[in-house]
This record gives sequence, C-alpha cells and structure tokens, in this order.
Amino acid sequence: MYRCSKSRWNQGNLKMDTVTGSFGYIGKYLTAALLEKGREVRTITTHPDKPNPFGAAVRAFPYSFDDPLRLTETLSGTDTLYNTYWIRFPYGGQTYETALENTRVLFQCAKKAGVKRIVHIGVTQASIDSSLPYYRGKALQEIMLSEAGIPFSVVRPTLVFGREDILVNNIAWLIRTFPVFPIFGSGSYRVQPVFVGDLAAIAVQSSKGLSGVTIDAPGPESFTFEQMVRLIARKLERKTKFIKVPPALGILGGKIISLFVGDVMLTENELAGLMAGLLTSTEAPKASVRFPDWLEENINFVGTRYTSEIARHFRWSAS
Ligand SMILES: NC(=O)c1ccc[n+]([C@@H]2O[C@H](COP(=O)([O-])OP(=O)(O)OC[C@H]3O[C@@H](n4cnc5c(N)ncnc54)[C@H](OP(=O)(O)O)[C@@H]3O)[C@@H](O)[C@H]2O)c1
Repeated sequence: MYRCSKSRWNQGNLKMDTVTGSFGYIGKYLTAALLEKGREVRTITTHPDKPNPFGAAVRAFPYSFDDPLRLTETLSGTDTLYNTYWIRFPYGGQTYETALENTRVLFQCAKKAGVKRIVHIGVTQASIDSSLPYYRGKALQEIMLSEAGIPFSVVRPTLVFGREDILVNNIAWLIRTFPVFPIFGSGSYRVQPVFVGDLAAIAVQSSKGLSGVTIDAPGPESFTFEQMVRLIARKLERKTKFIKVPPALGILGGKIISLFVGDVMLTENELAGLMAGLLTSTEAPKASVRFPDWLEENINFVGTRYTSEIARHFRWSAS
C-alpha cells in the first residue's frame, strides 16, 4: 500500500481542475469543455511530452504512480479530478491488475492532496460479475472510487464517437480499404453511440450534482451493429459486400490485419462486449448529437487513415 504525503503546493486555487489524459481522446474534450467554462486545467498523462493541443493553457505532469509523493503534489490544489485512466487491453507490461493498482494510487493521492471531487469516466454495464476483464475492471475502479473518501460521480458512456475515436474510424478505414466487410455473428446486437463532446458536457455537469451518483451517457439513438456499418458504408458511398462470419473468424481476420498495421485491432473481449450489447443503456439519453449527422459532417475525415491504439500509447511519436 502506498503512502501519500499532503502537499501545500498550489493550495487555495480552487478554480483548477485536473484531467487525466488531456492529450488523449475523451480527456481532450473534457479539457476543452472546462477551459471553455473558464476553469484552469492541468493534466496528468503517460506522455507529458506529447503535442499539447492547448498550449500554455494546460500544463502536463506524469502519472508517477511509482512516486506517490510527486503524484500528490501534482494533484494538490485540484478542485475536481476528471479521471479517464484505464487501459484497453494488456500490453507492454500493463495489465488490468496494474491499471487497477495505479487507479488505487491515484485515488489515494487525490485524497491526500485534498481533491474536492472526482468525476470518473466508467463504461455502461460495467459489472464485477462480468466475465470480461475490461468490464469487470471498470466495475472494480468504481468500487475503489466509492471507497476513496472523496465526493464523486461516475459517468458511464457507451461507444464514444468523435474524430479521434478508434472503433468507428477503423470500421470506416476497413470499408474504404477493402471491398468486403465482416459482420460478426448475426449483426443484430445493438450499439448506442454517444458524441464525445456531449459526453464531456455531461461529465462536467455531473461535477455539480449530488455525490455518489452514477449515470449512463448513451447516445440519442441505437443501431444494430449491421445497421451502423451499413450506414458508414452508405455515407462513404462504397458498394461494400457485407458477409456474416463467425466471431472467431472475424477475430482471426482482425489479427491478420493487425500484423500489417502493427496494432491490436479488436480483442476477443471487445468483440464479446460488443456482441453482448454492452455499449447500450436503458437510461434516457442525455446526449443530443446524432451519429448519422456527425458522420455526414465528418465523412471526408472519418477512416481516411488507420487509427492505432498501440501507436497512440506506445509509439505515439511515429503516428
Ligand atoms: N473510447 C470509448 O469509446 C470509451 C467507451 C466507453 C468507456 N470509455 C472509458 O473512457 C475512459 C477514457 O477512454 P479514452 O478512449 O479517452 O482513453 P485514452 O485517451 O486512450 O486513455 C485515457 C488515459 O489512460 C491512459 N492510458 C490509456 N492506455 C494506456 C496504457 N496502455 N498504458 C498507460 N496509460 C494508458 C492515457 O494515457 P495518455 O495520457 O498518455 O494518453 C490517458 O491518460 C476509459 O476509462 C474508458 O474505459 C471509453
């Protein structure tokens, strides 16, 4: 168990929020929404030297999970901590277990630093009973948060779409690149995509509400997986042939393409979650941007290049 010391650095500045991953995906939109509201933002990131889209407005600090005193110092003076930290799949020495331990350190240091509130980005249908380690790990993160002794809220998005998103971009890239696209299984399982800007607004709003509240952030409409990929192909004006394939064959195809693009395109776990309809919600949508409208507006951008998780987190300077 780590011990964190309380720091006095930057205390008294309660206009400041800390966002994990401001140079990443959802964290970038959270940061933009907070700056828009006149908040000061600092970020904690795996790569403080990554290109900073916010310039001098956002200072970057390393996670330093192995140096809790430093992490506490970094968090000191934070009003609300917006936490996006998690890993998509085990890679490069990072496992769900290490990510959970890091999460524990982050929350402990936040407590020591006197952070007033944590807004945590979860995922719909996270459950400790899940057989899928991503969803189980996300549920364990939420339990850690509830035991951290800091007021909190949890916002659980479905599939998050935006220009930096991996899944939608790579589906579009596949459709642009190949004449055939695989529909895993029946294709009738549902997704309910939410726009990343809407998610950021919901998360920022949740920093003001009651503590201990967990809300879903689903998009305004749901689609079957087949409807979604056919919609993308239609907007791209591609005459793609869709073929139903057993999930195992889809994963094999994904592995072969992964070899060429140097990435892990889709894991068995992710496909299982998708096919179980976990990226949907029964809660009323709070988001307004419609996926088809966003697609229309971004059609000249979406899928124009492969979006690599591995490049983003492990070879980012090469991407
Ligand atoms: N994207 C979605 O569609 C989606 C859907 C539902 C829920 N969520 C949840 O939303 C949160 C944010 O997701 P995101 O897509 O915005 O993630 P992201 O930007 O790729 O990563 C979020 C943070 O975690 C760090 N991180 C990610 N992978 C890592 C790894 N392998 N090793 C070390 N650090 C790593 C990132 O480091 P850097 O600062 O260096 O980038 C960043 O600080 C996650 O908790 C995720 O479970 C996402």
